[in-house]
Order: sequence, then structure tokens, then C-alpha cells
Amino acid sequence: MSTEVRPVRTENEFDRWSDALDIGFHVPQNRGDGRRRRPRHPDLDRVWAAFDGERVVGTFVSLPMELTLPGLRRIPLDGVSAVSVAATHRRQGVLSRMMAGEMAAARERGECVAALIAAEYPIYGRYGFGPATESAQWRADARDLRFRRELPGRIELVDADTALAEAPVLYDRIRAEQPGAVSRDYWRWAQDTGHDLREGATAPQDVLHALCRDAAGEIVGYARYRFAERWVNQRPNNTIHALNLMATDALYEARLWKYLADHDWVTEVVGPEIDRFDPLWRDLLADRRMAVAGEVWDFLWLRPLDPAAFLSARTYAKADRIVLRVQDKDGYATGTYAVESAADGSGECVRVQDLPDLTVPVDVLGSISLGGYSASRYLALGLAEEHTPGAADRLSTMLSTPLPPHNPMIF
Ligand SMILES: CC(C)(COP(=O)(O)OP(=O)(O)OC[C@H]1O[C@@H](n2cnc3c(N)ncnc32)[C@H](O)[C@@H]1OP(=O)(O)O)[C@@H](O)C(=O)NCCC(=O)NCCS
Repeated sequence: MSTEVRPVRTENEFDRWSDALDIGFHVPQNRGDGRRRRPRHPDLDRVWAAFDGERVVGTFVSLPMELTLPGLRRIPLDGVSAVSVAATHRRQGVLSRMMAGEMAAARERGECVAALIAAEYPIYGRYGFGPATESAQWRADARDLRFRRELPGRIELVDADTALAEAPVLYDRIRAEQPGAVSRDYWRWAQDTGHDLREGATAPQDVLHALCRDAAGEIVGYARYRFAERWVNQRPNNTIHALNLMATDALYEARLWKYLADHDWVTEVVGPEIDRFDPLWRDLLADRRMAVAGEVWDFLWLRPLDPAAFLSARTYAKADRIVLRVQDKDGYATGTYAVESAADGSGECVRVQDLPDLTVPVDVLGSISLGGYSASRYLALGLAEEHTPGAADRLSTMLSTPLPPHNPMIF
């Protein structure tokens, strides 16, 4: 094949990469956006392209990000995004070549894990990625939404400038306390608040921003939302869509839901597309059936590149030692590792020559690494192999977390 896969080298190539991305993501009307997009990717070595002659026929980017692990250590994360291949060149191995290039580069840079959000489920398992967190969109009946206890927090409508000043700072506090959460670039907040727009685009005027403050006046929650009007037989049947809803604590999250439900004319509040699969605020409802989950889907996918470094960075629920063999057809994670944890939760993972207690493919290691899915689950499905009876259950206990991991941000 004459297609060349390599990082972009010049500004002109970046502009063509940007246009190819907009075509690949079916927004050709957005072309010409290269100059504005460029500052988001200061390191061109992370911007992969496939070239057919002068033409860019594949796009792929690696974002330097952070991931919060159980135990709350934050580690560097290779965030894969902007993946597209031209319809003329699809299914010819272009994605596979871009992925191979970036995974080798990430390993070279010393990043121990890569992550992505999959547009379609079947694409990325073959490259060693496994879903590690789950998300859901919740819909609440707004007509009589009552909670089991008094909810703290004071709500205040703010303008987009204030939202841009406060929301990123709040999110950084939230993600620091949430295993599974990833960092979020400032430009995405600027986009959300109508500050970073394509030339000719106008900021949406129908979006509102609300902050929630605690008793001391500190900002503890934020919602970005819009109203969708619908009347039936001259009776209100309107919806509020929360595009973003986040708080430091489930009580403040519930407070924001209540604020949105408290609007007259509104019969339903639809939450963000990427809420927790099992959010705590739901348990605060006087009637839990007032909230139902819409779409439930896999969200953050992880691809361990260096299991020893990755698993040494998290903490563990119980003291134990399991020898784990990892299978990886691409080789990065292949090996046998002892995962050993102490009673204080600290742990270490090192390469060993021992006989394994359990064998898992690398995508399964990605799925179980944050505790969102258990090793026992994959054993039951025949997707992990046990050599020491009980090893999968013991590893599941070690990796488990009191609350499921959650990533509330797309990238
Ligand atoms: C997804 C996409 C990038 C794949 O690119 P591609 O160059 O066609 O992929 P490759 O040729 O390298 O495919 C490698 C393997 O993955 C499979 N594959 C690729 N895309 C797939 C998909 N969407 N569904 C199922 N299998 C897929 C191929 O069939 C091939 O399998 P094989 O090795 O058994 O033959 C491309 O289809 C695309 O641009 N889709 C639209 C945008 C998109 O979804 N991007 C992903 C954003 S997260």
C-alpha cells in the first residue's frame, strides 16, 4: 500500500489533517478550522496522519492527559482521540498502522496506559483496549421530585464568563477524588461556554449555567442546561436537558437535580449523557422510580502498556499476592507479574518468573484494572484462565473499590 503513516510535520499538513478530521466525523462544514485547532496540539509528534500522496486519508491524535486511580494517585494517560479514516481508504489497515505507531511512541515516552472513548464497540478490543467504566443517561420525572432528606447548597445562575472561570477549577477538584476520572483540557470548557468557537459560529443563547455553593459560599456544583419547549393540549410537557451536571458530593448533585426539576412547566429533567451507571443521588429520591436510566454504555476504555508501572500506582482493598500472566499480541504488556498488596492498601506489581495463578488478555486487564469489572466475571465467561483455584475471586477482591470507578468526561 502506498499510504504513508507518520506524525504531521508542518502547519500546512496540520491544516489538511484538521479538514480530513472534519470530513471523517461528518462535519465537512467545519473545515478551515486548522488554525484555531492547532494550539490544542502543541506537540505535532502526537498528531498522526495517513497520507496518500498529498491527501490526508487518516487522522489520529494522542492527548497528554491524567487518570485518577483507586487510592487517588493521578498518572499520565495517553488519550487517543480524533480517529478517522477516509471512506476511500477504510478497511485497508490504516487505523491499525496509526495505532501501532502511537502505542509504540507512548511506551517510548514511558506512559503506562492508553485510553479512549469508543465511537463503536467493536473497533478497539483488537488493539488491547477494554471497557473499564460504564455510563448512563438518567431521566427524572420533574413533576414531584422529592428527596429523602434536606439537601444542602444554594443555587446561583451565572453568566458564561463566570462558568468558564469556575467550572474547570471545580472539575479538577472533583476528578482528584474520583477514580476513573480523566483530566479535561481548558479549551473544551471554553467551547462549552461559547468562548472558543469556529469562525462564523455564534455562541448558543439558550444555554444557562448554574453554580451550587455550600454554606461557606464555596462552589461545590455546576450545571449547564437548556430548556426544550413542548406543550400538549395547552398543558406544559417541557424538558430541561442538563448538558453537564457535576458536584463534589452526591448531596450537591441531588441539589442540582432538584433545582432543575423545580422549574414550572417542566415535566422531565434529562441528565448528562455520561452520568454514573449507578449514581448515589438516585438513592436520595423519595421514590427511586422517578428516575430511569436511558442509554447505558461502556465509556472509558483502557489499554495497559506497562502493567508493572500501572498496577503499582493504585491501591488495593485487601492484602494478598496473585501472579498474573498477561497476554498481549502486540507485546507491550506480555509477561508474568506478581501483584502484591499490603494491609494498608499499598501495592506493587513486578515482573516475575513464577508460575501464574491466573491468565488474562490485556484488554481484560484494562477492564478490571480500576475495579469496575471483576476478574471473576471474565473467568465465568471463559475469557480468563485460572491456574490456582480461587485466584480470580482473590484478585477481584484486591482490585475492588468501595464505589465504582467513573469518568464523567468525553475526549
Ligand atoms: C473506525 C475507523 C477509524 C477504522 O479505520 P480502518 O482504517 O478502516 O480500520 P482498519 O482497516 O485498520 O481495521 C482493522 C480491523 O478492525 C476492523 N474494524 C475497523 N473498524 C471497524 C468497525 N467500525 N466495526 C467493526 N470492525 C472494524 C476491520 O474490519 C479490521 O479487521 P481485521 O483485522 O479482522 O480485518 C473508520 O472506520 C472510521 O473512520 N470510522 C468513522 C469514524 C469513527 O468511528 N472513528 C472512531 C472514533 S472513536
